[in-house]
Amino acid sequence: MQPERDVDVLFSEATLAARVRELGAAIACDYSGKDLLLISVLKGSFVFTADLARAISVPLALEFLGLKSYGGEQSSTGVVQITSDLTRPIEGRDVLIVEDIVDTGLTMQYLQKNLATRNPRSLKLCTLLNKPARARVATTIDYLGFTIEDVFVVGYGLDWDERYRNLPYLGVVRQQGEV
Ligand code: IMP
Repeated sequence: MQPERDVDVLFSEATLAARVRELGAAIACDYSGKDLLLISVLKGSFVFTADLARAISVPLALEFLGLKSYGGEQSSTGVVQITSDLTRPIEGRDVLIVEDIVDTGLTMQYLQKNLATRNPRSLKLCTLLNKPARARVATTIDYLGFTIEDVFVVGYGLDWDERYRNLPYLGVVRQQGEV
């Protein structure tokens, strides 16, 4: 796929695939013999989840949870709404949240607290990206793809106003006026 004219490539398809394979191998090793349940946070992590799940060689189950974080176009306020909840209880399961990006950390803080009240046996977090420069709360990340600078990224499931989710790579949208 040709890069969009206004998006600079940050991580290519090949770079993403290699890192996702590594994450999958680490997760498979840690969850061998356990009751692994991936919870994919929609919409942003749908592509990452599809690739990660196939890179994990131990049995697992999959659930999706829709979240909407309120805020400006590019930042969250910590006001989070569950737009689509899990279909089953998670009590006693080894839950691994699969998220696209931890930015301020407010969305994950909300979700981790919410899921903890449902009594999983364990609750961990795998995020493709972390933007520590914007952290407003500390987030414990168990599996991390990449740490990135304070830039707004799109592609590989992530959007800007619902655009760019289908790009197979991760990129940075060039601001108007930049060449
Ligand atoms: P947080 O609550 O600030 O950590 O924001 C988490 C959510 O904001 C993520 O799950 C994304 O949906 C969205 N988000 C934060 N940074 C970016 C970005 O650089 N690109 C696309 N979405 C982002």
